[in-house]
Amino acid sequence: MNVAIVFDSKTGTTKAVAEAMAEVVRAAGHQCTVGSVQDADPAIVSEADAICVGSWCKGVYVILQHATKETMDFIGRLGNLDGKPAAVFCTYKLATGGMLPKMATSLEGRGANVTGSFKSRGPVAADGFGDWVQRLG
Ligand SMILES: Cc1cc2nc3c(=O)[nH]c(=O)nc-3n(C[C@H](O)[C@H](O)[C@H](O)COP(=O)(O)O)c2cc1C
Repeated sequence: MNVAIVFDSKTGTTKAVAEAMAEVVRAAGHQCTVGSVQDADPAIVSEADAICVGSWCKGVYVILQHATKETMDFIGRLGNLDGKPAAVFCTYKLATGGMLPKMATSLEGRGANVTGSFKSRGPVAADGFGDWVQRLG
């Protein structure tokens, strides 16, 4: 399988998580690309077999949390994902509010089948991401 991971990172944590997730994907025998929402080409990402989109958590720490505008704009530029498996992820410090369900809903609006939702407090892949990768087959 070819998995595409895209992320938005302000100070490097979400980028480090995306790279750690890519290592998990590769260790399971799949191919994986990693790119920022600023650099990745939505048309190419849309061609992957499975897609992961991540953002840092932006808000007022315990309220109004959301994915970055760049992340949501990127999702909006994806093509028809046609039932492909997808996951959303974020990094945060205190609380993520509704950001992950909103990202999932947006990805489902592009046709993805969102089967994973992960959050990390530091620069490591979330517990459970390896299981999601195993479920890809
Ligand atoms: C302006 C700003 C707002 C933030 N709002 C929240 C928040 O509402 N909830 C939270 O848990 N963390 C919040 N954080 C913490 C970041 O989401 C967290 O440090 C994240 O891992 C940063 O990712 P990055 O290193 O990829 O930029 C905020 C950080 C900044 C700079």
